[in-house]
Amino acid sequence: MSNNIVIVGTQWGDEGKGKVIDILSQSSDYIIRFQGGNNAGHTVVVNGKEFIFHLIPSGILHKDKICLIGNGVVVDPGILLSEISQLRDRGIEVKDRLKISQLCHIIFPYHKILDKLREKIRTHRIGTTGRGIGPCYADKINRCGVRIIDLMRPDVFREKLKDNIREKNAIFKKVYGHPGFSFKRIYNDYLRYAELLRPFVSNVSELLNTAVANNKSLLFEGAQGAFLDIDFGTYPYVTSSSTIAGGICSGSGMVPFRINKVVGVAKSYTTRVGQGPFPTEFSPKFSDIIRRKGNEFGATTGRPRRCGWFDAVMVAEAVRLNGISELVIMKLDVLDDLRKIKVCVAYKYKGKIFRRYPYDPEVIAKGTCLWREFAGWRYATGGVRRYSELPGNAKDYIRALQDLVRAHIFMVSVGSSRNQIVRIR
Ligand code: GDP
Ligand code: IMO
Ligand code: MG
Repeated sequence: MSNNIVIVGTQWGDEGKGKVIDILSQSSDYIIRFQGGNNAGHTVVVNGKEFIFHLIPSGILHKDKICLIGNGVVVDPGILLSEISQLRDRGIEVKDRLKISQLCHIIFPYHKILDKLREKIRTHRIGTTGRGIGPCYADKINRCGVRIIDLMRPDVFREKLKDNIREKNAIFKKVYGHPGFSFKRIYNDYLRYAELLRPFVSNVSELLNTAVANNKSLLFEGAQGAFLDIDFGTYPYVTSSSTIAGGICSGSGMVPFRINKVVGVAKSYTTRVGQGPFPTEFSPKFSDIIRRKGNEFGATTGRPRRCGWFDAVMVAEAVRLNGISELVIMKLDVLDDLRKIKVCVAYKYKGKIFRRYPYDPEVIAKGTCLWREFAGWRYATGGVRRYSELPGNAKDYIRALQDLVRAHIFMVSVGSSRNQIVRIR
């Protein structure tokens, strides 16, 4: 029987999804990205070697796996091609086992520049990755986007790009005082990309539904996290795609009723890159300590991540939104030295207590947290491989998280390497 699993982030991204995908890929045949773009940075560490994936699914290191990029992903061709060649240089060949949907929308230089210019003039910056993600998705919804299938036909591409450049150059000049873009240069650069990408372009929804019919096992790789979701996240401080499991069908063409399980990934604490509310955020001084301990710097932009305690109100909501039955807790080792560990179990605002995630931006931004405190374990967990070897206080912490968020915790990660994992039966 096939076993089709979805992996999603339950916080604000960077939970450690890459590592979990790499591990669970072992029992899957296909690994599929369905949303986001190269705003994602998914880290896998094998035998001391670090790989950071932005567009290529994190299962690619397993040489017998097929990796698919679904139509819901926005593709920056230059970035994708350099990822392919960097992997090749490190001995990983993706030819014949990487397929990209012909329906993916393409990121152009004007998307990237617009992303940065809009950030500059906004009153409240979002703190985007500057990769052109928002503007590319906006063009998709606005029906002026250019897809990979268009790029494959130079005449169609020429016309669509011309239209876009004409309109965009006028806006860039008038609104942003930017000189605009040369049609010729983009056209030529992207035609070159087209030829290099052609062998990878495919009908991904057909590929994956055929795989399902043949009882192959699929693993869907979410990017970002539940609270960066365009609808359910801390809007407007979110990304521009559906990051929850619900995005899979529209982002890949997968049929809904063949998805068997949703696995959530959460850090044992919380991080966030970019702006926006963060109820459990540490003081700057303590944030520094945890950032250093957890090496909390963005895998895509290198920006320092903001750090805070585990927010059980948020993760419980992510569990509900995604239908998560099983959860992985990452980076337990980062808490090893602490005497006391706190978890937010409710928010309080104007005398009212919110045990369920309130969605009201004012409550989330201005509310205070009700905490539960745990005694630390003060033991180096990095070498632990069996649940029974974990210190009692660490087990208590894991059990409490499990009860608070109402999902079974089946794995705990205690270091960045592939083998630093504790499975719980
Ligand atoms: P993703 O975007 O969800 O895939 O996560 P990132 O790769 O952006 O960030 C996770 C970071 O934590 C990476 O640097 C991983 O190598 C690292 N990491 C993953 N699991 C663990 C763990 O259990 N302990 C520690 N200390 N680091 C981990
Ligand atoms: P992975 O898949 C963490 C954040 C940005 C910013 C907001 C909008 O590695 O978990 P965007 O460039 O998407 O328009 O930025 O979303 N963001 C991420 N934060 N991990 C990510 O991906 C992210 N992708 C986007 O920092 O706050
Ligand atoms: Mg990341």
